[in-house]
Amino acid sequence: MSDGAARTARPLGQGPSAPAALAGPEPTAALLDLLAAWLPRQRWFPGRGDQPAELSLISDVTLQAHYPALRHLIVEAPLRSGGAGRARFQVLVGCRPDLPSSLQSALIGSIQGVACYDALHDAELADVLLRGISEQRLAGQLRFVREPGAPHLARGTPDGRVLGAEQSNTSVVFGDHVILKMLRRLFPGANPDLEVVDALARLGSKRVATPYGWIETDLDSEPVLLGVLSQFLAGASDGWTLALDSVRGLAHPGSGAAAFAAEARLLGQATAELHTDLAAAFGGRDMTAAELARLTGAMQAKLSDAIEVVPELGGHEARIRAAYDAVPRLSGPVSLQRVHGDYHLGQVLRAPHGWVALDFEGEPAVPLAIRRGLAPALRDVAGMLRSFDYAARHELVGGPADGSLAEQASAWVAQSQDAFCAGYAAAGGADPAAHAALLRALTLEKAVYEVVYEYRHRPSWLPIPLGFVAAA
Ligand SMILES: Nc1ncnc2c1ncn2[C@@H]1O[C@H](COP(=O)(O)OP(=O)(O)O)[C@@H](O)[C@H]1O
Ligand SMILES: [Mg+2]
Repeated sequence: MSDGAARTARPLGQGPSAPAALAGPEPTAALLDLLAAWLPRQRWFPGRGDQPAELSLISDVTLQAHYPALRHLIVEAPLRSGGAGRARFQVLVGCRPDLPSSLQSALIGSIQGVACYDALHDAELADVLLRGISEQRLAGQLRFVREPGAPHLARGTPDGRVLGAEQSNTSVVFGDHVILKMLRRLFPGANPDLEVVDALARLGSKRVATPYGWIETDLDSEPVLLGVLSQFLAGASDGWTLALDSVRGLAHPGSGAAAFAAEARLLGQATAELHTDLAAAFGGRDMTAAELARLTGAMQAKLSDAIEVVPELGGHEARIRAAYDAVPRLSGPVSLQRVHGDYHLGQVLRAPHGWVALDFEGEPAVPLAIRRGLAPALRDVAGMLRSFDYAARHELVGGPADGSLAEQASAWVAQSQDAFCAGYAAAGGADPAAHAALLRALTLEKAVYEVVYEYRHRPSWLPIPLGFVAAA
């Protein structure tokens, strides 16, 4: 239940008490209007734009009634990009009669003189969530759960800060030991971001950040994950940053490039360990002939769709189709297992003890049942190999054409990819060299997806995947 009417104390002379400002049909309608304009401007909103979204309110729980007040909302909006359907989003709204300047950038709008803002940016309100997990709070339909082995979570001074690298979701770091990832778009059903990490942590895997708790509710009579609290790997660098540093070092021969090959090899080993543990936790089996044919059919269909969007791809169609057609004719069996599903350099952290994988949610655009399904482990390998290519080429995009730099970048990519594959095979992963035809098909499939993505969202990056496809 919410904190209740007993705690409605307010600073004297500061307008209506929080519940009066927050609750009731009129302010709620006003808040929804504000959110309708605010939501489409958020980084994590699919099909961002300026048009207000048409919102309906799915759930509304007051987590703190006194100022600063905290209201937990789930709203539903029609999906603009990606076709039909509606999507549910989680928004935590803070309310203060006086908004400190440090929170101005989080402002959603004002209602009756009370500022409403994105509460995750308010350390005091983020602390309400952390304490909720620590105390295993039940609030309305919201359940806060602490893992049995979690360390002491209570903090003296609230110090939560939103991580700058806001992508699909919003993460808040407390001190330097825990991170709370609050999901933005909600999907009913077991969420792999918790399911996988939990299972791997139970196996004692060092390749995931230890989960400490989570927040959940129900939607469509199914549990839905709202947030995950885990161990924060302080001082770790993400793979994308390390790779870019190394690529920039190309201008200074003998420095960064060699260092990254060693890291790429370790990353390959860590990835193989991750896959071994995923297979141990969730099982695996060989693909049937019918499944192989379906996989190829799906790849071919996606290529046809992609050519409709980016006709330039058509010039490479024959080679891509031939690579896909090779898949059902593979000699050995192809094994299936749970995979990461959205594996790239931005999803791995180099911690002092080695590489750690993050963000097992998979690609949010893909239905949850498919994300939780089995796939060839080499799909993750293909994702990472493409990511090396991105890291190297991204530095060249938009710059002056420099043949020798482009050559060095190609050499860096090849060296990093070879080191990654060698590490992967050495640590027990399916040897990428022995599965070259499947890896080629999966890598091209990924690149075709990237071509459409860049065409739609980042046209200046389109030459990266198109260049790969042209040369493959
Ligand atoms: N346990 C952690 N320790 C340190 N940094 C982390 C941790 N988890 C996430 N991060 C940082 O936050 C970023 C976003 O996390 P991620 O789980 O990938 O969320 P999103 O779904 O928003 O992409 C990561 O790229 C990483 O830099
Ligand atoms: Mg991520």
